[in-house]
Amino acid sequence: MMKKEKSETLVRTGPGTRMGNLLRRYWVPILLSREIAEPDGPQIRVQILGEKLLAFRTTDGEVGLISEFCSHRGASLYFGRNEDNGIRCSYHGLKFARDGSCVDVPSAPKLCDSMGIAGYPCIERAGIVWAYMGPKEKRPAAPAVEWCNLPASHVFVSKRLQECNYLQAMEGGIDTSHVTYVHRFEVDDDPMHRDTKANDYIKADGNVIFEIEQNACGLTLFGRRNGEPDSYYWRVTQWLFPWFTLIPPFGDHALGGHVWVPIDDHNCWAWSINFHPNKPLSAEERRDMEEGKGIHCPYEPGTFRPVANKDNDYLMDRIAQKDKRAYSGVFGFAAQDASLQESMGPIQDHEHEKLLPTDRAIVMARRLLYDAAVALENGHEPPALDADQQRVRAAGVLLDRGVNPREWAALHLADASKQPVYSI
Ligand code: FES
Ligand SMILES: [Fe+2]
Repeated sequence: MMKKEKSETLVRTGPGTRMGNLLRRYWVPILLSREIAEPDGPQIRVQILGEKLLAFRTTDGEVGLISEFCSHRGASLYFGRNEDNGIRCSYHGLKFARDGSCVDVPSAPKLCDSMGIAGYPCIERAGIVWAYMGPKEKRPAAPAVEWCNLPASHVFVSKRLQECNYLQAMEGGIDTSHVTYVHRFEVDDDPMHRDTKANDYIKADGNVIFEIEQNACGLTLFGRRNGEPDSYYWRVTQWLFPWFTLIPPFGDHALGGHVWVPIDDHNCWAWSINFHPNKPLSAEERRDMEEGKGIHCPYEPGTFRPVANKDNDYLMDRIAQKDKRAYSGVFGFAAQDASLQESMGPIQDHEHEKLLPTDRAIVMARRLLYDAAVALENGHEPPALDADQQRVRAAGVLLDRGVNPREWAALHLADASKQPVYSI
């Protein structure tokens, strides 16, 4: 159970809220670069952290992210013209540059300076447009999470709409204990998980023993299973402040991770990333990802809403459930997670939950987020803004029974780029 005040602090992310202020101190994934591929192409609406925004690519190829609404009488700039390095409102012709400054008021040029709207600086990494929505003087270094800085050939990124609060979605990424249930049969068949030693150990030992380490940038979760007679099989998950998760890998398959970004308090973007640190993704891997296999999903045409969604009960198949082809009857990792997390309602009722020992990681993550939000209010800088702290990696590794996994991780997972991939 969580007190009302704490729950409200964690789930509300609009402008001026505690958590909203905290999240605005980090670079925020906003949209796929390819959604605004063309200079002077169509601008698109995006909503992030409860703010209605407009994204566009300028004549010079730069990304603009500004308030959706004109400062004059509030018309949507979605109906404006993207031309000559700015958006011109179609109603009375005011024009805004990519930083939101007003550059033309045709009827009263002298009033330009007072007609600006919100605009946020953007960068592009890994095919994603990221924006910084916080105070100007506090802008941090660009994200240094490993997959952000790989060549385009090595990374595949997708996003899907999840129709619930970001917190309960992200908690699924931290709660490794659910894999044994809802995903149980998926790992055998999925092309990006099958035929690995990892699956053998996972299936042979369902009694995972968890250790959790709190560190400078978030949590490292260690899941221990029996390995060979003299070893344990450790799956090491990373949760990186404030919304990144890195999934323990399977064999030689691509590494994976997520980012959970609030759209508003009832919806979020579940970003899903696969990558190889040292080589390009194969054509076959890329095709599978584009088809929505692994942690990705197929969409309703022309949208980022999954084909399996709450309106069709996620295409649940009771016969597949009986036949043990899909544990809940829902197929696909993403739909399995979304079905259960959205079923809690748009915002989970934290006052009536009854947490179990396996929820320890979630409890710690909530506390870290809450403490950081309150600390910020009291003038303390947020954690994990230092690029050097963000280069961690997940792992799935056999270690001698005498080896302390925390010591091993400190040596082998802290600065990923200098290490081989530990995965079996
Ligand atoms: S409402 Fe935009 S120019 Fe008048
Ligand atoms: Fe899951």
